[in-house]
Amino acid sequence: MFELTEDQAEIRDLAREFAREQILPGATERDRSHEFPKEIIAQLGEMGFLGMFVPAEYGGTDLDVFSYVLALEEICYADAGVGVVMSVQNSLAIAPILMFGSEEQKHKYLPGMASGEKIGCYALTEPMTGSDAGAQKTRCYADGEEYVLDGTKMWITNGPQADVCVTYANLDVASRHKGVCAFIVETDNPGFSVSKVEDKMGIRCSATAELVFEGLRVPAENRLIGEREGFKVAMATLDGGRIGIAAQSLGIAQRCLDLSIAYAKERVAFGKPIANLQAIQWKIADMRTKIEAARLLTWRAAKMKDAGMRVSAEASMAKLMASEVANFCAYEAVQIHGGYGFSTEYEVERLYRDARITTLYEGTSEIQRLVIAKDSLR
Ligand code: CAA
Repeated sequence: MFELTEDQAEIRDLAREFAREQILPGATERDRSHEFPKEIIAQLGEMGFLGMFVPAEYGGTDLDVFSYVLALEEICYADAGVGVVMSVQNSLAIAPILMFGSEEQKHKYLPGMASGEKIGCYALTEPMTGSDAGAQKTRCYADGEEYVLDGTKMWITNGPQADVCVTYANLDVASRHKGVCAFIVETDNPGFSVSKVEDKMGIRCSATAELVFEGLRVPAENRLIGEREGFKVAMATLDGGRIGIAAQSLGIAQRCLDLSIAYAKERVAFGKPIANLQAIQWKIADMRTKIEAARLLTWRAAKMKDAGMRVSAEASMAKLMASEVANFCAYEAVQIHGGYGFSTEYEVERLYRDARITTLYEGTSEIQRLVIAKDSLR
């Protein structure tokens, strides 16, 4: 079921080589400087990694979700901060336009986004509307051939860099999700501003921002599908996004395991390398087993999405498992490194911080359980 085609293996190898040679060496410095990896993102665009499932007619690479998952794991193995930029571009900004956009919208926005010339973001979350996404408080009303949006969005990855923002606003807050509309917003619009850039624990080279919409006028032609159908856009997009975060988590977890194995073979205690100690061996065995299990769930969700199936529960299972595994592996990697793992001189210290976001964004682990339980009890 999971045999890679020649093309898929080639994509994975290309991503692996680029990640290890071009991304990994600067990861620690970017974590310290918080510098957005502009050049790397441009290179990823040139290589076709920013529009991976965009058909060739809209300027994309025309690949499957499985190839995307393989490539994203490799990029995140080197730097999960770079990886989240790639993941938001593909899964959260491009995907809703691809799934729900009109021909005009696809031709207008996808080529620039697929090439990386235009960066995208996905603005759903609000200061008081995180897990309960249906409680959208950003308002919109129709005014002639335009909509006017007012509100604040929060925790928006790529917010400061974005040229294109897929966002949501409510025609009628009292109707909760049934009033939500989805829009494509160009961020040079005078009603759009970045009000704050967050100082974060991890994935620090990616930027996370608060956005303010003040009398933001959006042409009606920039609404995605019908009025009041925006919540479906948000949720279906997150189904795909969660597969991406599962892949990101796998990259972090695999790096933790590889560094732990190397360190355990090298570090001597009680007269021999600690790899000889059963206490360490069991940690390695548990890390590897959990990563393999998470990878199988992630690959299954990707394959099902490629087959055109609805993957809400499967994407949530993959994301829940992989993100918890990334945190488990990061914890154990620091434990194996002992005091050195607590030092910023060792990569596992960054991985420990980078892993932490994976159980939070694109739905917390608790929200993934809610989606899985709802699907199970239908
Ligand atoms: N696909 C299509 N439609 C869906 C759907 C899906 N996956 N899930 C739900 N829907 C539809 C339902 O069919 C229902 O439609 P009707 O009204 O026509 O019946 C409607 O949406 C409402 O569904 P629910 O009753 O299940 O909705 P809910 O209010 O109970 O919420 C939830 C469900 C799962 C809790 C949802 O609110 C949710 O996912 N919350 C978490 C939000 C989240 O992940 N935020 C992260 C934002 S992105 C980010 O992290 C920032 C970044 O930049 C990386």
